[in-house]
Amino acid sequence: MANERDNNSTKEQEKTQAALKVAKEFIYDDFVLGIGTGSTVKFFIKAIAELIEKNGLDIILVPSSLDTQLELAKVGLSYSSLLEFPDLDVYVDSADIITKDHVLIKGGGAALTKEKIMAKAAKEFIVIVDDSKYPRNLLSHPVPVELLPSAINTIIQPIFNLGGEFELRYGKGKIGPIITDNGNCIGDISFSALYDPTEMEKVLNIIPGIIENGLFVSYAHRIIIGRKDDVEIIDLM
Ligand code: 5RP
Repeated sequence: MANERDNNSTKEQEKTQAALKVAKEFIYDDFVLGIGTGSTVKFFIKAIAELIEKNGLDIILVPSSLDTQLELAKVGLSYSSLLEFPDLDVYVDSADIITKDHVLIKGGGAALTKEKIMAKAAKEFIVIVDDSKYPRNLLSHPVPVELLPSAINTIIQPIFNLGGEFELRYGKGKIGPIITDNGNCIGDISFSALYDPTEMEKVLNIIPGIIENGLFVSYAHRIIIGRKDDVEIIDLM
């Protein structure tokens, strides 16, 4: 129990370090800033709120999910949308894991489709993670997919043919599958044999009913790994 608490507080320190680094060094006045989703991003939202208050920056914030909208509202920050601001200067988000070749797996928060749209729409995609997420083996995390509800049973065999096992994601506090911000379902694909992530990212999206998958190959421009007292920065530009 005490170990778990220590572990959580170390992770929080690491997330804070990474979030503060981005807020201090990579965000400028007049930016259109895309904001990802998840527990790491919550530390970044806090850092941005402090930065805006302290330095009076004029920044347009574009959230990637309803959860992030709520978090921004909670700290009194107003936000816009991709429809009004389709060109982001920077998109900041986390990942579930990052491999040594800098492939990201995302979608633990079921927001992967909009996250991928925003990562692509940004001049720079900065990924912030705690130390436990890099480097990780590709097979250490399933690949999330967003799918149309009507395709739940039809995608199982095509995914199996690619070497994966599909599991529909269920949540807490709701009977039935998780429904995404876009009104779709989410599932997780486990692979037991190594696969080519570049190819897999493409072929998964060809299966009818799959809207997007959580493999982000060649998306990140900069990865910031938070450590207890400092950060490691990997520049990929
Ligand atoms: C949401 C995501 C998140 O970035 C990912 O799940 C990491 O979340 P956390 O910061 O809570 O560990 O992809 O769809």
